[in-house]
Order: sequence, then C-alpha cells, then structure tokens
Amino acid sequence: MTDPYSEISEIVNNQNNWRKQCINLIASENATSPAVDKLLVSDFAHRYAEGLPGHRYYQGTKYVDDIEIYTSKLMAKLFNAKFAEVRILSGTQANMAAYASICKPGDTVASASIPCGAHVSHTRWGAAGFMNLKWRSLPFSVDSFNIDIEKASEQLKEEKPKLLILGASLFPFPHPVKELAPVVHDYGGKVLYDGAHVLGLIAAGFFQQPLKEGADLMTASTHKTFFGPQGGLIVTNDDDLFKKVQNNVFPSLVCNHHIHRLPALAMAAAEIEKFGKQYAQDVISNAQSLAKAMADAGFDVVKTSRGFTESHQVVVHVEKLGGGKNVAELCEEANIILNKNFLPTDKISPAVMDNPGGIRIGTQEMTRYGMGKKEMKQIAQLLKRLVIDKEPADKVKTEIIALRANFQKVGYC
Ligand SMILES: Cc1ncc(COP(=O)(O)O)c(C=O)c1O
Repeated sequence: MTDPYSEISEIVNNQNNWRKQCINLIASENATSPAVDKLLVSDFAHRYAEGLPGHRYYQGTKYVDDIEIYTSKLMAKLFNAKFAEVRILSGTQANMAAYASICKPGDTVASASIPCGAHVSHTRWGAAGFMNLKWRSLPFSVDSFNIDIEKASEQLKEEKPKLLILGASLFPFPHPVKELAPVVHDYGGKVLYDGAHVLGLIAAGFFQQPLKEGADLMTASTHKTFFGPQGGLIVTNDDDLFKKVQNNVFPSLVCNHHIHRLPALAMAAAEIEKFGKQYAQDVISNAQSLAKAMADAGFDVVKTSRGFTESHQVVVHVEKLGGGKNVAELCEEANIILNKNFLPTDKISPAVMDNPGGIRIGTQEMTRYGMGKKEMKQIAQLLKRLVIDKEPADKVKTEIIALRANFQKVGYC
C-alpha cells in the first residue's frame, strides 16, 4: 500500500461520482440533506452512553442525554405516539427488540411470505427463526396484491399466533391493520407493523396510520422514505410494551448506540415535519406516473382495482423479458439501479431463487433530487428502449447520465 488515504479516497470518490450519474430506483434507499450529512460527523461518534438519559453507566453523557431526549420527542410527535426508541441501530434489530418484548422462544409469529412482500426478518429464514420463533405465512390475494383479509382472519383465529407482523418490503398497498388487529387482540395476541419502507409517507399522513388503526407498535428503519441516516426506530403508545422494548434494546441488542446518528435523525425529522407532506405527495404521484408510463410502454406492471400503487413502489413482472436478475443487471449497465424481486406468482425453485420474476422500483430518491412527472415518463421510455427494444446499454447510458446531470441537489430541506 503506497498511500492508504489516496487509495481509500479513490474508492469513495468512485462511488460518489458514479452514483451522481445514476438514476437510483432502489426502493429502500434515499439521499440525505447537507444539514443531515453535516450533523452526522461530530464528537458523539466517539462516545458511549449505555442506559437511558439520566441513568447512564458512563460519565460524560450530559449532551448525549440532551440529544437523545430531543430526538425521541420529535420522533414520537411525528407518529402521534407516546414513546419512541431511537437507540436501535437498524430495522432488523428493531424487529428483534419487538419480538423479544412480546414472544418467548417457541411462540408463533405470522406474516406474509417473502414472495408476497415480507422482509426476511419476519420469517424463519431471518430474525424470527434466529430467535427460535415459529413462523406461519398468511394467505395472500394476487388480485388485490395484499393479504387476503377473510382467509387470514380465519387462520389467525384458528392458529392464534402470539404476534401478527404487518408491513412489508414489497409494499404498494396499505396492509389491513384495521381489519386484522381486532382479530388478534380478541385472543390476546399483539400486532407489529413494520413501517421500514413507508416511514416517511406515514410521518406525512399518507399511506396508512398503523398505530391509530390498531397496531401495538411500529418498527422501522429511518433511511428509506424517511430522510434520516441509516438506523432503526420503534414507536408505541403502550407503556408496558415500551418498558420491555427499552430493556431489550439495552442491554440485550445494543451497547453503544452510534450516538452521532441522533442529531442527524432529529434534523431529518424536522425536515419531514416541514416538507414531508409535499414530498410524500410527490413521491406517490411520481410512482403512479412511472407505473402508468411503464405500462403504456409495454411493461407488465402490477395493477389492482386500487390502481398501480399507493406508495413509493412500482412492481413489474419481467418473466418474459429475461427475469428480474437479467433485467436488473442490464439496467445497471446503463446506470439505472434497481433490484430483482420475488413476486407472489413466483413458484419457488433454485432457478427462481437466482432469477425471480419481478423487479421493484422506488421513486423516493429521484423525487428528493427534484424529478417529477415529466422525468418519470422519460425514465419509462429509457427503460423500454433498454429492456424491451434491447437498444445497446451504452447508448441509453449516455442519455441517463445527461438526464441525471440536471438533478443533483437534494430538495425538501
Ligand atoms: C420491511 C422491512 N423491514 C426491515 C428491514 C430491515 O431494515 P434494516 O436494513 O434497517 O435492518 C427492511 C429492509 O429493507 C424492510 O424492507
């Protein structure tokens, strides 16, 4: 190694420069504002503050207490919740804290299956299985692209899982919290809503309001449709549950809680408070425009009686275009970044595991960079030329770089 600093910087610059030339449509990512970026680097990054404000195991934490109290209050207010736990480091860990607060090893949790939208942490292949919880998948309606309310109610009444997990990774339509929460509460179970994907939309009053609709707690990550740095969140109105959550976060799941996230998260919450309504409206209308333009261009876009989507996500069948893996790789060659995704209609086999039937697209990041309906139509055309017409990726890439060049500044801040 000749000059580690230059070598490391070169990798970082490569990433920064390349991504400035890409249209990022990964539905689980976003860009942070200059104010959030600036607040992410501070002395807090070097500190420990185990425990809760006023009850720490370390000295030197008076300003940690200040920022933690400030951030928790702001996050709770945004979700009309009594309590917010901001020490948790990721959405997956937030789910683990929730499971540990409600379930014992051997208890059953129920969620959608992965092809029907669940995050792996909801299932036996992820955190739920890792914590020795049994997992049951819920019936799904391909027509409504949602959990089948009637069949799921029957299953829940019969099997009585300790915890119903709603919310998803593939998530164009709100889940039936209002309809299923009473069924679960009737037999003494609890309802967790995983709002990782749609947190920014919920904060702005869009998509759905899970706590109001009957969820006992909501977990999330803070960096998808929300404006925060990468991190986790748990909110609830339930005093007892919140105490259990706090006690599971520390000492069980988190020791140092990456305190430098907190000022940045608080700033992101302030931005959402001020600009979130307009942002969420624009994200959703962009997703609807992109979905329609893609369907008009010949793509097989998921559509139900409610339309194409009510979130930031557009879901597209690409089985006849080479499958999700091939389409996503082709798009990357032309600087459009999106991901392959299982779809409810996929029949799980080794071939489908590698090359599932769909792609998932999110409009939240390009909206934050200022793109609107006109650009959504342009993106649909570029995707058509690349994926359907099979124009050379290099040719399309030049136009994608030119389009992205006009959208470099993070907005809604
Ligand atoms: C619904 C859902 N929950 C949890 C997670 C995990 O979040 P994290 O990456 O913050 O652990 C994801 C990740 O994309 C997700 O989609």
